[in-house]
Amino acid sequence: MYKSFNISDNIFYVGVNDRSKQLFENIWPLPKGVSYNSYLIRDEKVALIDAVDICYSELFFNKVDAVLGKTPIDYLIINHMEPDHSGAIAWLVNRYPDIQIVGNNRSADMLKGFYNISDNVLIIKDKESLSLGKCNLQFFLTPMVHWPETMMTYAQEYKTIFTGDAFGSFGTLDGAVLDWQTVPEKYEDEMIRYYSNIVGKYGSQVQVALKKLADVEIETICSTHGPVWTKNENLDKVVALYDKLSRYDSDKGLVIAYGSMYGNVEQVAEVIAAEAAANGIKHIVLHNVSKSHNSEILRDIFKYRGLLIGSPTYNNKLYPGVESLLSAIQNRAMKNRYFGYFGGFTWAGAAVKHLKEFAENSGFEIVEPSVEIKQSLNESTFESAVALGRNMAEKLNNL
Ligand SMILES: Cc1cc2nc3c(=O)[nH]c(=O)nc-3n(C[C@H](O)[C@H](O)[C@H](O)COP(=O)(O)O)c2cc1C
Ligand SMILES: [Fe+2]
Ligand SMILES: [Fe+2]
Repeated sequence: MYKSFNISDNIFYVGVNDRSKQLFENIWPLPKGVSYNSYLIRDEKVALIDAVDICYSELFFNKVDAVLGKTPIDYLIINHMEPDHSGAIAWLVNRYPDIQIVGNNRSADMLKGFYNISDNVLIIKDKESLSLGKCNLQFFLTPMVHWPETMMTYAQEYKTIFTGDAFGSFGTLDGAVLDWQTVPEKYEDEMIRYYSNIVGKYGSQVQVALKKLADVEIETICSTHGPVWTKNENLDKVVALYDKLSRYDSDKGLVIAYGSMYGNVEQVAEVIAAEAAANGIKHIVLHNVSKSHNSEILRDIFKYRGLLIGSPTYNNKLYPGVESLLSAIQNRAMKNRYFGYFGGFTWAGAAVKHLKEFAENSGFEIVEPSVEIKQSLNESTFESAVALGRNMAEKLNNL
């Protein structure tokens, strides 16, 4: 049994919470779960905006029934075809055989490929509209936020925009759906982790989408994950956050991510951190790559301007966890960071050489000196580590 939940007069929340899945996309840990949001607009015609993960189909249909009873759904608007939202579509079509599916050329291709559905598909173009009676829906194509078919749907009469993954957050909706029903700050870190890991590669496309929507009057943002944003201050905050993250802009702070098997490279990280703190840097996060998941490290790298990476030499290469982190940073086309590096070896060094190559190809502003220890810190490498911490702090203090 469900009590139907209104977002506004005729817009209902029919999404679900996932507190079972360990890894989103089978990669990203979900310590606070995730919600798959779906919305119903009840007008002369009934439109469903996005669906949910297939595992939650039954629960989802129960929620839809709580709003509609036996009334059928006329349109399914697909903003995004990733299966966390489209999984329930085949069953939905089975349940509502006359439902018309609304998407763009690219979503139609995916609909056919994933679910073998090609009948009753209405293909719309950028900025086209569809009337539900009183309410008019307008579609904005926003490719690569987060897939090529991604679009947003604007319900003009309600000044409400359904944004797909954009402005989404990890974290379930624990009772509250709307921002003002809860303490929205509790989603802040998970929203940044969601952005940096899932959407982070597509900063320039997010910028294009934000510009496209600049003149659209928006009073409510309904994303496919996390709370619905309705309060002016929160709308401003989440839009500003997306703008900032997608420009790779960041705050004064330092991430030191390192691998270390026996603690020697870790000691270099400690010396650098202590010196940066002594020089006034208040936000310093040390991540041991073997303990912190890349998703947390990337979240903090998106937050802070300073980045230092350290690695022991491992079988003549970088430490595996560091290699994987570097690849994740490259994959996100990370920009606009102060970058330094340090490493160690016991008989023939390779880590610092590889970090140097990474640094030179990164486009980051390099902070000197790099530090290379043989077995453990000595007087000279200790001084270099202190200098690296001090020089990084100086750069950050000039922000
Ligand atoms: C499995 C393994 C492989 C290593 N491979 C190399 C190597 O190829 N070349 C080298 O100079 N040191 C190698 N080392 C030594 C480390 O690079 C490093 O000097 C040592 O682990 C001390 O640093 P740590 O305390 O931060 O782990 C290796 C160590 C281990 C445990
Ligand atoms: Fe997605
Ligand atoms: Fe999603």
